[in-house]
Amino acid sequence: MGKTRAVPATLITRIAELVTNEGDLGCFTAIENAALVIENGVVAWTGLASRAPAADEVVDAGRRTVLPGFVDSHAHLIFGGERSAEFAARMAGRPYEAGGIITTVRATRAASDAALRANLRRLADEMLAQGTTTFECKSGYGLTVADEERALSLAAEVTPEVTYLGAHVVPPEFKDDMAGYVDLVCGPMLKACAPHARWVDVFCEDGAFGGDETAAILAAGKAAGLQARVHANQLGPGPGVQVAARAAAAAVDHCTYLTDADVDAITSTGMVATLLPGAEFSTRHPYPDARGLLAAGATVALATDCNPGSSFTSSMAFCIALAVREMKMTTEEAIWSATAGGARALRRTDVGHLSVGARADLILLDAPSHAYLAYRPGVPLIAAVWQSGHQVPHHTPEPPAQPR
Ligand code: NIG
Ligand code: FE
Repeated sequence: MGKTRAVPATLITRIAELVTNEGDLGCFTAIENAALVIENGVVAWTGLASRAPAADEVVDAGRRTVLPGFVDSHAHLIFGGERSAEFAARMAGRPYEAGGIITTVRATRAASDAALRANLRRLADEMLAQGTTTFECKSGYGLTVADEERALSLAAEVTPEVTYLGAHVVPPEFKDDMAGYVDLVCGPMLKACAPHARWVDVFCEDGAFGGDETAAILAAGKAAGLQARVHANQLGPGPGVQVAARAAAAAVDHCTYLTDADVDAITSTGMVATLLPGAEFSTRHPYPDARGLLAAGATVALATDCNPGSSFTSSMAFCIALAVREMKMTTEEAIWSATAGGARALRRTDVGHLSVGARADLILLDAPSHAYLAYRPGVPLIAAVWQSGHQVPHHTPEPPAQPR
């Protein structure tokens, strides 16, 4: 640790279990009876509490658990309205269809900038209070040049991980002209959106975009400087994973219906398979085969898919509990996938782990071990959150901005 400090060093000690995800192992690692030092916003030291160096400020973790802040690599947070009636109808037996997205497109186009911003900030605050210190945010409910650009400029106010999803579905005004819409997405819409975004995404699915359209949109996005990620194989088998592999995508998300060839494409390219169990929970689709992916050697991330249609949760803890209970991931695998796995899906090396030099984004969990996140589902266990070395003040999120 340096002798001159821009800000005081903070020692967090008496940690029962410190999850670090340290090293090149690509898997969960933790230290028991641990301590951690934060200096200048990054992790400066980790180790046994009995060997901890002195610091300006000491925080007693009280034999609780510390883990890296969650990295939610898949979320749709810019939208108007809500779809609780659609959810209730689904629970009463109606199937989930990609077309429901249009309901939210109409409400989003009609919403003011202030209403969209208020809804976005409420969700971002909700995430942070639940331990999510890095998140991705997509457009995709505007589907005009102006509405997609507006969504992305709002997203860029709250996260650097901004994704252009002009290819979410074909909007009604292009109902009989898929080619015309793809031209718009690859042309004027991309030109307006690319300056605000880091990523390009396509919903490759029956009822949304096919393999050829997806390939064309990813290629155009990459030519404009964006990196690829894809919604693939969510509602049925399809070409999404193979197209994503050919486009060197960072991640393929959903992966609910995979063939052996799809799993091979994931493992041979090193694309991250991002599983979104909140969507299966809320659509009653079968959960993805996490065990098969892990056995094949895939890198798996967990994310919320927070959106008003198929997964209206912002809780990574809930997704961890689903991954453990419903997808048979071990508690260690689920925590790794919700932190380091998400970071890999976003090609980030500074978050998702607590090695020396990592951004000091961490969660103090009111529990003696990480397993409590799945063992005590639905219980608010997040005692405190630090982001870039600063403890996030507790506050009550604003009430919903959207009237029902
Ligand atoms: O990831 N799959 C496409 N998009 C969202 C669903 C959005 C919606 O239903 O509004 C998803 O599940
Ligand atoms: Fe999604």
